[in-house]
Amino acid sequence: MVLKVLGIAGSPRRHGNTEELLDSALDGARIQGAATEKLVLLDMKFSGCICPESEDCQPTGQCSVMDDMQSLYPKLRAADLLFLASPICFRSVSAQTKALIDRCQALWVTKYLLKRPVSDSGRMRPGLFISVSDREDPKEFHGAILTVRSFFISLNVLYKAELLFMNIEKKGDVFKHPTALEKAFETGAKLVEKATATTQ
Ligand SMILES: Cc1cc2nc3c(=O)[nH]c(=O)nc-3n(C[C@H](O)[C@H](O)[C@H](O)COP(=O)(O)O)c2cc1C
Repeated sequence: MVLKVLGIAGSPRRHGNTEELLDSALDGARIQGAATEKLVLLDMKFSGCICPESEDCQPTGQCSVMDDMQSLYPKLRAADLLFLASPICFRSVSAQTKALIDRCQALWVTKYLLKRPVSDSGRMRPGLFISVSDREDPKEFHGAILTVRSFFISLNVLYKAELLFMNIEKKGDVFKHPTALEKAFETGAKLVEKATATTQ
């Protein structure tokens, strides 16, 4: 069985540090035989949640806002592994990433209110969080980790691994880091290797 890895690039800039790390992790996943897809939130057009106005998703688990998120829901359900990459922005995830997370309220409703499966496999899926901060302080990541953990669990994704690098600010800084890209490659490969072993 070929495992499907969905990678989400949540940076407010294209080909930034977190997207490069995500690319390496997806390269590693492919080496282990996974089928990978990368979605770049910046290239998609979607709003944040407007649920409090409509509460449409409550009875159905379906979001009624017709934008690019509609093509993402089936991909989130189909993924066997999820890699989420976002830089730290104001000690949280980026606005693009947070908009995606809030729009997954429909899946939260599906899981917790409707008690229906949120993944096609019905299983827990391994998740990887990739982030960078420009400040040299591990506390910069705390808010984002809480948010991502809460997002992952709503989608039946286990917070299995994280790649967090400090002192990375300008586009391309990640290439100056001695081990970051290599570590991302190894982590992507390892996660798929382990997931393959548990699905056989
Ligand atoms: C809007 C915004 C807010 C940011 N807030 C923080 C922050 O709170 N703490 C921090 O360490 N870095 C912060 N940064 C710096 C980014 O995390 C850093 O530049 C990172 O390398 C960007 O990753 P990217 O290249 O993947 O976009 C912020 C950057 C932006 C654009």
